[in-house]
Amino acid sequence: MTKAGLQVAIDGPAGAGKSTVARDVARRLGYVYIDTGAMYRAVTWLALTQKVDLADKQALSRLAAEADIRLVPGAKGQRTFINGQDVTEAIRLPVISRHVSPVSAVAGVREPMVRQQRRLAANGKVVMDGRDIGTNVLPEALVKIFLTASVAERARRRYLELVEKGLPVDLPELTTEIIRRDNYDASREVSPLVQAPDAFLLDTTGLTREAVVEQVLALVRKAEAAGHG
Ligand code: DC
Repeated sequence: MTKAGLQVAIDGPAGAGKSTVARDVARRLGYVYIDTGAMYRAVTWLALTQKVDLADKQALSRLAAEADIRLVPGAKGQRTFINGQDVTEAIRLPVISRHVSPVSAVAGVREPMVRQQRRLAANGKVVMDGRDIGTNVLPEALVKIFLTASVAERARRRYLELVEKGLPVDLPELTTEIIRRDNYDASREVSPLVQAPDAFLLDTTGLTREAVVEQVLALVRKAEAAGHG
């Protein structure tokens, strides 16, 4: 196969709806959904828990290289384990969101994560979301989507998500946080957040979740029909 069949890569900035859309699309296609952001969050969680200096790139790289991260698909979505501990809920806390960007910018942290992501996707039938999936992790993916939405819309969605989980949130603070994270992720040296030249740009502002899912499914079917699958 010239193009790796049955891999769907979804990239985009924080809060664009990637995980919701990727999960729905995976369910509809009968594929496995892989949330790569959870891996960087898990390393950040471990670093904070072990009081590793987040400015110490070598220590972070060592931590990431030695960590045993498992992404386990389940009925209620993917569960994330690091060194045997279930951190699925803990990695969503605002303290992790605040520190994950600099951790994920370290080349030595990314290398083992990307290697594992490629292994997970090797057999195909995956929908993988992140920041560098179409550009770096799975450059041969059958379908690449760059999902985005306005900052206001993304902040509003994150706000509702966190409120629903009963977590304390402040909308202006969330907005600042999203802008800061976008800038950081897009300007880092290693695999910055950027749209792959062959990715389809999908702006989800004002679109319902169902409408976005349908558009992505249509793109997958079109690519399959074109004989790349
Ligand atoms: O998608 P998320 O918000 O859970 O991602 C958390 C952070 O991890 C994000 O700020 C950037 C980083 N990330 C990355 O660098 N590459 C990926 N493939 C996924 C996430």
